[in-house]
Amino acid sequence: MDEINRAKNLAAKHAYNMILPSHNIIGIGTGSTVEKLIEILGANKEVFQDKVFVASSLDTALKLRSYGFKVLSTSMIDEIDIYIDGADEVDRDMNMIKGGGAAHVLEKILAYYSKERIYIVDYTKKVDYLGQKHPVPIEVLPEALYPVYNKLSRLGYKVKIRLSGKGKYGVVISDTRGAVIDLYLDRQVDPVKLDNILLNIPGVVGTGLFIGLADKIIIGYSDHVEVMEK
Ligand code: A5P
Repeated sequence: MDEINRAKNLAAKHAYNMILPSHNIIGIGTGSTVEKLIEILGANKEVFQDKVFVASSLDTALKLRSYGFKVLSTSMIDEIDIYIDGADEVDRDMNMIKGGGAAHVLEKILAYYSKERIYIVDYTKKVDYLGQKHPVPIEVLPEALYPVYNKLSRLGYKVKIRLSGKGKYGVVISDTRGAVIDLYLDRQVDPVKLDNILLNIPGVVGTGLFIGLADKIIIGYSDHVEVMEK
C-alpha cells in the first residue's frame, strides 16, 4: 500500500474507534477516505446490524447496502449522532473545501444536522489557506448554469463548469441534480465573505466551503495521525 493510502487507512481506523455504542444514527460522507472507513465497518458488520446509517451520496448508500447495513433516506433525518466524512482541503482554523466528488450539498446538510462531525483526511489535504490546491465547488441549478457562470466571470472569478469523465458526456450533474462550477482562487480570500457572495447569487444551491462544521479533523500520515479539535 502506498503512503497516501496508508495515511487514509490510519485516519479511517482512528475515526472508526470514535464510534460509540450509544451512536445509533451514523452519517457517512463520500470519497476514497470514507471508502476505507466503510470497508472497516463492513469487516465488523455484526457490531452495526442494529444501527441506522445516513449516506451523503448514492455511491456511499450503495457501498453501505452492499454490507447489508440499514440506510435511512436523508429526507427523514432528525438528528445524526456522529457524522464522518472526508475533505479536499483543511486550513488551520478547521475550515475546509469539500465537493471534489460533487457531494457537498448533501454532505453539508448531514454535517449541519449532526451532533458530532469528524473528518478524515490524508496529510496532503492540509493547506495554509483555502483554495491553495483545489477550486471551490459551487452547485448550481441546471436552469441557472450559464447565468451564474457568466455572473461569476463578470465578477472577476476564474471559473470552470465541471465536465464529466467517462460514463457521461458533458456537464456533471450531481446526486442532488445540480451542475457544478469550480471556482479557482489565485490568492487567499476570506472564506466567509466568499461564501456569502456566492450564496447570494440566485441559482446557487450550495458551496463546498465548510466553515465551522468540523468538531474534529483526523489527519493521517503513513505511521501516525494528528487530531485537530475545537
Ligand atoms: C465529495 O464531494 C467530497 O466532499 C469528498 O469528501 C472529498 O472529495 C474527499 O474525498 P477523498 O477522501 O477521496 O479525497
